[in-house]
Amino acid sequence: MYPEFRPRRLRTTPAMRRLVAETSLEPRHLVLPMFVADGIDAPREISSMPGVFQHTQDSLRAAATAAVESGVGGLMLFGVPRPEDKDACGSGATDPEGVLNRGLRALRDELGDATVLMADTCLDEFTDHGHCGVLTGAGRVDNDATLARYAEMAVAQAESGAHLLGPSGMMDGQVATIREALDSAGFQDVGQLAYAAKYASAFYGPFREAVGSSLEGDRRTYQQDPANRREALREVDLDLAEGADLVMVKPAMSYLDILREVADRSDVPVAAYQISGEYSMITAAAQNGWIDRDAAVLESLMSIRRAGADIVLTYWAAEAAGRLS
Ligand code: PBG
Repeated sequence: MYPEFRPRRLRTTPAMRRLVAETSLEPRHLVLPMFVADGIDAPREISSMPGVFQHTQDSLRAAATAAVESGVGGLMLFGVPRPEDKDACGSGATDPEGVLNRGLRALRDELGDATVLMADTCLDEFTDHGHCGVLTGAGRVDNDATLARYAEMAVAQAESGAHLLGPSGMMDGQVATIREALDSAGFQDVGQLAYAAKYASAFYGPFREAVGSSLEGDRRTYQQDPANRREALREVDLDLAEGADLVMVKPAMSYLDILREVADRSDVPVAAYQISGEYSMITAAAQNGWIDRDAAVLESLMSIRRAGADIVLTYWAAEAAGRLS
């Protein structure tokens, strides 16, 4: 046995392991997705995501402030309208009095520039059919008619105080369309965290409950096929060419290979979204006593950072930030 064949030497003590750790996980790397709902008068726990809540406007402000105090890098807000407020074109998304736009204004008023406030720029929470865009007569998602809605939505969200928009609908041309709309409305400083490679994933299941989704069927004509790798790189290249300020891969843990390739290729910051199903799986296994929850949470986040994410969106952001600081 030659001495140089003893890598265990660098694992002997906690101080040694700390010294040689290649990847770090800090509160600023974590972004907390939050849900603000109409039609509830107290925070409502999402049954498939224990510990995650739909908030009222009041509880949203309090929870967001606490998350920012714990050191998270930003917040990503989703709106949950009343079922009766949904329609075919998702009017609630562009209405300044829609639930998401009111939530953004409340948070920007409360927090100013103390955090990075992000908005989900997608119609699915607001449409009565649950798709991310408007439909043709034949019931397919109409790409270009949807872009016009996104342009309007983007301006409404910028007016409501979002620092970054998160176009998540996977329509072709969405980043360029939104950029143009923001610029012509005078919002040159509002950026886009583009969901560049977003896969049609079964792991979004619990999110559908979280936002009270009306979707029947699937999103496979616009989200990506899990079989494809090159296609993700093409989507990233297009989003970068269209002016994305950051790009995102989603989901995270089943797509760490994609994340690594995107990170190697991108010259803008790369985010990954640890989605609802990833949260629920770890939570459920921990509730059964099958895994050590706290260790599994940090390991999952570290693995996403190691694969190349500068930023991780995770429902554990506030908790993990608290434990890391
Ligand atoms: C679409 C959107 C979805 C998620 C974020 N934005 C759902 C979907 O594409 O079906 C999923 C997030 C999660 O599962 O945690 N607006």
